[in-house]
Amino acid sequence: MNWNDCIERTHTHSVKWSAAPDEIIPMCIADMDFQVAPEILEAMKKKAEHGIYGYTTFCDRYYRSIIGWWKRRFDMDIDKEWISFSPGIIPGINLLLQLLTKPGDHVIVQEPVYYPFYSTIDNHQCNIVQNSLIYKNGTYEMDFSDLEKKASDPKAKVMILCSPHNPVGRVWTEDELSRVAEICLKHDVWIISDEMHGDLVYKGNRHYPLFSVHPEIKNRAILCAAPSKTFNVAGLQTSIIMIPNKELREKYQQKLFQYGLMRPNAFGVEGTIAAYESSEYWLEELLVYLEDNLQYVLDYFQTHIPEIIPIQPEATHLIWLDCSKLGMSGEQLFQYFLKEAKIKFDEGYKFGDSGQAFLRMNIACPRERLEIAVKRIQGCVIKVK
Ligand SMILES: Cc1ncc(COP(=O)(O)O)c(C=O)c1O
Repeated sequence: MNWNDCIERTHTHSVKWSAAPDEIIPMCIADMDFQVAPEILEAMKKKAEHGIYGYTTFCDRYYRSIIGWWKRRFDMDIDKEWISFSPGIIPGINLLLQLLTKPGDHVIVQEPVYYPFYSTIDNHQCNIVQNSLIYKNGTYEMDFSDLEKKASDPKAKVMILCSPHNPVGRVWTEDELSRVAEICLKHDVWIISDEMHGDLVYKGNRHYPLFSVHPEIKNRAILCAAPSKTFNVAGLQTSIIMIPNKELREKYQQKLFQYGLMRPNAFGVEGTIAAYESSEYWLEELLVYLEDNLQYVLDYFQTHIPEIIPIQPEATHLIWLDCSKLGMSGEQLFQYFLKEAKIKFDEGYKFGDSGQAFLRMNIACPRERLEIAVKRIQGCVIKVK
């Protein structure tokens, strides 16, 4: 793979690049500017050349590819029956909240957090209950006593856990996850564990699937995952919703039927198989490239832009930037970089109240583009001084 190739993405209907008119570098939206593994590309070409894109179903090889991935990467055994489908994690969470809550119930999240979680809760007229993360010594921790308090409210029905965490980049330890599991089990709170970034973990860290940290949690939790982030195939819209609890799983499948969502995209099955069966080596190469990009950005900020403090992620291709020393916040901060640096970040305030003075930066791009971006950021931070 030539990770340094700057592949043109404008005029390809990319959400990220359509939102970036001339000259703007989009460092928003968590997809990558890298081409997929050759094995995935080949599978897509083969499917395209077949020329018939009728209704599609799942096959045994699809399930085996998923089961094999979890066994190899996380030493986790998955039963085929647990595996359900969703065109995306967010639609999956919406369907699950329909089944697990009624209006007025409490859903716990840990801000600053991936903000579409908030709409899923609003969509079901539930209350967003914040178990805010604690920002201390340049990193983030969970507040367990607050979680215990929030979970013990009889209205608390679900916690949406982001593991690894977007945007702060924490890979939760086995101990942290087992404490979350224990608290939620004690108070009968379901956990929807969004593990979409579980493969994008940097050296020295290990992702623990929630199901592996507590013997009883499987019956009270749902695990959401996908090849989308790992292999840059979000547009294939083929996500995995693992539901070991039989009763909930049957209800979930009825919901899929009710909304006509039970069938995958014609390219999704081939894409998933090619990713999980044959592209693991590509992921290893990607992680090396991303880690280099990450180190480059961290060094650059430290040496040339000390006014912005990047929170070092343990996972994800996203960096959470603490811009509080710039004296700007909210939309003003976002617009400043958009207009002055021509960089489009994700707005920090959308992730929660504590994100007001933050921006989220996507570093999954060729180094050349990253070098231009950090220079532009430096140039416009100098003007603030
Ligand atoms: C933690 C997390 N969950 C879910 C999603 C979106 O998932 P989907 O596009 O499958 O709905 C993202 C995308 O950035 C994400 O970061």
